[in-house]
Amino acid sequence: MWLNTKKMMDTKKQTDRLSRIRQNEAASHTEVYTHEKLYASDTWLKKPIKTVQDIMPSFSDYNELHVLDLGCGVGRNSIYIAESFQGNACIIDCVDILDVAIDILKKNALEHNVSDRINGITTPIEEFAIPTAEYDLILAVSALEHIDTKQHFIDKLQEIAHGIKKNGRVCLVINSDVTEVDAETGASLEPNFEVNLKSDQIMTYLDGIFEGWTVVKKTVVAQEYEIPRDNRTSQLSSKVISFVAQKVRNAN
Ligand SMILES: C[S@@+](CC[C@H](N)C(=O)[O-])C[C@H]1O[C@@H](n2cnc3c(N)ncnc32)[C@H](O)[C@@H]1O
Repeated sequence: MWLNTKKMMDTKKQTDRLSRIRQNEAASHTEVYTHEKLYASDTWLKKPIKTVQDIMPSFSDYNELHVLDLGCGVGRNSIYIAESFQGNACIIDCVDILDVAIDILKKNALEHNVSDRINGITTPIEEFAIPTAEYDLILAVSALEHIDTKQHFIDKLQEIAHGIKKNGRVCLVINSDVTEVDAETGASLEPNFEVNLKSDQIMTYLDGIFEGWTVVKKTVVAQEYEIPRDNRTSQLSSKVISFVAQKVRNAN
């Protein structure tokens, strides 16, 4: 009886935590997406990440490209891929939990003349089923740590591995060991990351799930940046993992 009550209380605590984090995340992303213009902003929307820019030459001899961008935001990386791919056919499936992100992504695609290459899908990553051997590239930039549970995070890594075609690539950027403090007072804040794991633990999952792949990049870099949080500014510290790998055989 006591155990049942404790279990119910733990479940409620987890549900409350998830909804609190998701509300905060939605508010801070909406603030940036509605006030900052893609590639013309001093924020992280200024340009695509370098790791994505570095990957694109690997596809220079492809005539067709199928890409999945998990947690795509307003297309910082996808619009760049759509613009820089020189082959004939290119479809980028762009998944984000926020309607506002997908709406602005579509406007950005129109503005950059790549609407025919961008397929916006509003849904949580954990609910988007990745078809097997479908994609030449799957990217998830600062997104997988927002999956609802640690088990779903591991399952999604596995699904990503299965979703890649032979010779295709994954490009994952994942925040780990995250801490947050109020930038003004220094008071400790709850990090707004649904899954906040140690970098070593994530590395162990990556090594296991992508075993047999050619690892192109695997780095962990300590970073600090400021983000808007409830009418104040939060100073966030994170160890950012960048992982790029190519499926050379039909491993996984
Ligand atoms: C830090 S932004 C990064 C956006 C984009 N990847 C980029 O590099 O510009 C994280 C994005 O993930 C989205 N997101 C957060 N949790 C998500 C979830 N569970 N499923 C899908 N998208 C999610 C947010 O709405 C936001 O647009």
